[in-house]
Amino acid sequence: MSAQDNSTEIETSISAAIAASADLATLEDVRVSALGKKGSISALLKTLGGMSNEERQEKGPAFNQLRDRITEQIAARKAVLESQALSAQLASEQQDMSLPVEADPLLSGRIHPVSQVMDEISAIFADMGFDVAEGPDIEDDFHNFTALNIPEVHPARQMHDTFYFHPNDEGERLLLRTHTSPVQIRTMQAGQDGAGPPFRFIAPGRTYRCDSDQTHTPMFHQVEGLVVDKTTHMGHLKWTLQAFLAAFFEVDNIAIRLRPSYFPFTEPSMEIDMQCRRDGNQLIVGEGDDWMEIGGSGMVHPKVLAHVGIDADDYQGFAFGMGIDRLAMLKYGMPDLRAFFDADLRWLKHYGFVPFDVPGLSGGLSNKALAGK
Ligand code: PHE
Repeated sequence: MSAQDNSTEIETSISAAIAASADLATLEDVRVSALGKKGSISALLKTLGGMSNEERQEKGPAFNQLRDRITEQIAARKAVLESQALSAQLASEQQDMSLPVEADPLLSGRIHPVSQVMDEISAIFADMGFDVAEGPDIEDDFHNFTALNIPEVHPARQMHDTFYFHPNDEGERLLLRTHTSPVQIRTMQAGQDGAGPPFRFIAPGRTYRCDSDQTHTPMFHQVEGLVVDKTTHMGHLKWTLQAFLAAFFEVDNIAIRLRPSYFPFTEPSMEIDMQCRRDGNQLIVGEGDDWMEIGGSGMVHPKVLAHVGIDADDYQGFAFGMGIDRLAMLKYGMPDLRAFFDADLRWLKHYGFVPFDVPGLSGGLSNKALAGK
């Protein structure tokens, strides 16, 4: 018969303590006092060392089973306490669904007025059957000058007007295009391989001149227009400009004045003036008897047609070039050109356009209600 031990009392009191543990910290104390290095069960297990073989064979498994039972009870109690703690936390914490949502980032971005106005211009001319052509910002002398019948001695070739690159390996000096007219040449050349004339396109884009003051920036925007066909004449030019300006400024009618001028690539050449009225600082378009210059135009010079292999006996055409930035300033009342290129977010927020507010002729061109919001 083996010696008496107090393992039954120990188990009873530990089990009671486990059941009575009301929180995880208390339960942990119970675990340490039973199973920790100096715990009561650990002490019980240590007594095995002093026993006879016979006694140890009996008590060993019993004590180990006791330790396993206590370990299981603690784990079970721990699971209960943890789930109670989670429920209590869920009950005490709340999500405030009434908090305002942050504005959609898609709605806080803005389209620059120049981009918007380019889209408006393209929408109007597309409606009149024009294609939209593009050309490179970095040009060569031939496309920017020679093919446009601009002679070597023309002031536009002087360094003070044109940004030139260093000569390349072939000794050729590339340049930043000083106008969108080289796109006339490139598009007509490309057309020669395919469809050929008639041509009817616009070419909006960036242009560069070494010039900077209140009304000039080194980079600015132009839109070129070109129509070449067998019977194209100046009446077509005047109607096209007038119809475009009325659509762009969203007025019924607008008077224009074509003032004799000189461009090497057109003959005759005309400056385009648009009817306006000045009212203090304000400029009202389409009324009054003042005039505002907005671009150049003319009948395509036969030498330009010859440079792209078009027979000037069969074909003739008109061309025009207008300043996009000026058109944008006039339409949306922006007083200072330089602010266009300052990347000032406050300016952009005020004058910019909501994305996806894509200009189209059906829904009202500029959707003025949304502008500047
Ligand atoms: N390229 C001219 C300029 O920049 C404008 C223009 C274009 C004039 C087409 C006539 C015809 O000043």
